[in-house]
Amino acid sequence: MAETGGWQRVAALSDLREGEAFVAKLGDAAIALYRLNDGVYAIGDVCTHEFALLSQGFVEDGAIECPLHQAKFDIKSGRCLAAPATEDVKSYTVKVEGNDVFVRT
Ligand code: FES
Repeated sequence: MAETGGWQRVAALSDLREGEAFVAKLGDAAIALYRLNDGVYAIGDVCTHEFALLSQGFVEDGAIECPLHQAKFDIKSGRCLAAPATEDVKSYTVKVEGNDVFVRT
């Protein structure tokens, strides 16, 4: 994907569906994009408990539930909301220009 300054284009806005995760790569990092009713958000895709991809879990009320042991993370902030995970996942700054979605590297 093309890089522009500190931003990397990671998706087309038209590829994102509300309530579903969109998996992307930011350098070597696995991230997932989420389209909520007030914007697009990006957080790390690997659960902080054991190894599971959060993008394979369920989106509910602005949170993503890990598919393995059901920890929950806030999609806007990456904050851990429910055990068994205790650490937050990283959250990334997103900007949308036209149909292009960028994440700050
Ligand atoms: S791996 Fe996500 S809660 Fe255990």
